[in-house]
Amino acid sequence: MQILDGKYVSEKLKIEIAQEAAEVLTQIGRKPHLVAVLVGHDGGSETYVASKMRNCEKVGFKSSLFRYEDDVTEEELLEKVAELNSDDTIDGIIVQLPLPKHINPDKVTDLIDFRKDVDGFHPVNLGRMLRNLPSFIPATPYGITLLLKEYGVETTGMHCVVVGRSTIVGSPMSVLMSRNAHPGNCTVTICHSRTPDIKKYTLEADILIVAIGKKNFITADMVKDGVIVIDVGMNREISTVTKSGYKLYGDVDFENVAPKASWITPVPGGVGLMTIIGLLKNTLASARKEIY
Ligand code: GUN
Repeated sequence: MQILDGKYVSEKLKIEIAQEAAEVLTQIGRKPHLVAVLVGHDGGSETYVASKMRNCEKVGFKSSLFRYEDDVTEEELLEKVAELNSDDTIDGIIVQLPLPKHINPDKVTDLIDFRKDVDGFHPVNLGRMLRNLPSFIPATPYGITLLLKEYGVETTGMHCVVVGRSTIVGSPMSVLMSRNAHPGNCTVTICHSRTPDIKKYTLEADILIVAIGKKNFITADMVKDGVIVIDVGMNREISTVTKSGYKLYGDVDFENVAPKASWITPVPGGVGLMTIIGLLKNTLASARKEIY
């Protein structure tokens, strides 16, 4: 069993990104600039956004955060997005999800200028991805492809089973794995909460990508020997042992599944760190006008 080490790869790629950011500074006279909008005080969202901002600074990007309380109106938020769209010194805009129930996330996402949509959630970017045109690829699936590429994992001809059909991870991941690219060229099956007998499919997986949001959902009896396992789970539980006050669990029972796997991502230290890389690379590409 070999570890797909998100910590090692993300640190390595951050050095490359920092060098490229320095080039952007000399070329356009300013740093790549990512703006995040955060509504409310969800613990997970706070942590992820803080990490995105911190990593921007680390690689020499400018980052800005606009915070709103839970009771912000949809109109106020849409006005802010419109203002950020028209600011030429901003390369990337992300609105952290989930949003409070009274705000329609699609309305907010769709208003972000697709040329600054470094999350890759806008219909133009998702559509262009389907057509194999240059686009911003959603950060988590993008990060996973970078991790597989870094270790030279060959996926051509494999049966890839994706567990979870979210627009952020499962759906775009299934598209990327079936594309004529590396990694890719897989035969893809998508399982979700309404799939009866998920085990029947996971047992057939050469590569298993799990993004269902349930701690230890995939157990050792559900995978075959030699499987490649990508665990997207970020299940936070309160802990009295860790400094942060919580502990992160994946969707895969790592301890028992790892001995059967050929490659596996740990949680933490796997996909989560690569998501940030996907976001940084999209922001850099935007600043360099590589896509639009
Ligand atoms: N919520 C969970 N993942 C993400 C992400 O990648 N981007 C944004 N904006 N919100 C999220």
